[in-house]
Amino acid sequence: MGDCILEKYYIVTYGCQMNIHESEKIAGILRRMGYESAKELSEADIIVFNTCCIRENAENHAFGNIGALKKLKKQKPDLLIVVGGCMTQEKGKTEILKKKFPFIDVMFGTLNLEDLETLIRRKKAQKKKVIEIREKEGEIVEFTDAYRTSYPNAWVNIVYGCNNFCSYCIVPYVRGRERSRNPENIIREVKELVAQGYKEITLLGQNVNSYGSDGKTECTFAQLLDAVASIDGEFRLRFMTSHPKDFNEDVVKVMKKHPKICRLVHLPVQSGSNTILSAMNRRYTREKYLEEIKMLRSYLPEAEVTTDIIVGFPGETEKDYLQTEALVKEVDFASAFTFVYSPREGTKAATMDGQISEDVQKDRIMRLVELVNAQTRKKSEKYVGKEIEILCEDYDEKKGLYMGRDEFGRMGYFPCEHNCIGEFVWVKITKANGISLFGEICR
Ligand code: 5AD
Ligand code: SF4
Repeated sequence: MGDCILEKYYIVTYGCQMNIHESEKIAGILRRMGYESAKELSEADIIVFNTCCIRENAENHAFGNIGALKKLKKQKPDLLIVVGGCMTQEKGKTEILKKKFPFIDVMFGTLNLEDLETLIRRKKAQKKKVIEIREKEGEIVEFTDAYRTSYPNAWVNIVYGCNNFCSYCIVPYVRGRERSRNPENIIREVKELVAQGYKEITLLGQNVNSYGSDGKTECTFAQLLDAVASIDGEFRLRFMTSHPKDFNEDVVKVMKKHPKICRLVHLPVQSGSNTILSAMNRRYTREKYLEEIKMLRSYLPEAEVTTDIIVGFPGETEKDYLQTEALVKEVDFASAFTFVYSPREGTKAATMDGQISEDVQKDRIMRLVELVNAQTRKKSEKYVGKEIEILCEDYDEKKGLYMGRDEFGRMGYFPCEHNCIGEFVWVKITKANGISLFGEICR
């Protein structure tokens, strides 16, 4: 037991799945120190901001929320305010944070998450703030006590960092080079999670397909996926993110071999124009992307694909944009995350000619969102009358219904007499509303 029993923590997370899981590791560290979770921010003795810097609005969001704590810190001078995550890892950002928010007590980076306990203890022993951001990635630290909050889903990192340097992206600068976890550790972690009753395991990496290419292991991603899917027990397996330059037939063959692997691939295309893809340094063409989709569907005709798309990248003409629209229509994505290009300091794209005006960006994102939504709605309507297997994840208080997703990630709501969170249930869909499905348990 630690020395601060009954003290409470509150973690504010921004950004992606990677960050959500990292917050589970932060919670594990804080609980090991004796902290308990607070229900509200105002109850907390320590508040940790796990920031994201992938787009400007994520950063602004964090800036706003940290700034709002000035008053609380005045009322509660012993309150510890900790800032970590991608933003602190950005060049020059800690200085800005320090200046803007002198009441921050501790700052750490994504590359020294494991030091958090030491840093908090050091801060408790001194008046001065503690700032320690590791500049270069070190050896992988295995976390055994993440405090998971997403039951029945569990996230498992397989590769950290990214080597791709897509010209718009800040991730390689803030998360360092690719480091693959040892396959034995991954398999052990998944076995433990399945034994604990987790029903959906998602293997995480910025580019899962390049697992092992750092030379840290001989194992390829396809081999790892095969090994994890061979673990006994009732669970679903997902993986993300796949990079179109590396996604391959070996992976699809493994998917076909194991019904446990969801027939859903998250394959960010970013743009449908070869000119833009090349400027983005994505290292594949529109044609290659479409070939991959064809290959996937030749093995698994039922497979669905989700994607990420950026509009308004420097130099994007109306013609380029229309090629993205055409690709969206051709692939018929199950869903797509759409973003307006956000210049990130230090990336190649930030200094490129041809930055697009906000008006044009807005117009394109609105048109794209409309198209994507129309496609998703159409797909939803096709669900009506069908029976689908849903893994129940939660109870929606507002709707008074249980909810969960099918293997394609589609959200379904349904009533149930007992608490069925963590159970696989068959639901007959009676109604589709936008992206959500509604139905009744049928088997
Ligand atoms: N601007 C807009 N979107 C971005 N993404 C990454 N960097 C940027 C940026 N600078 C998007 C990409 C990526 C997703 C996680 O975020 O689409 O796949
Ligand atoms: Fe960023 Fe590209 Fe790496 Fe994805 S693959 S994290 S978009 S650099």
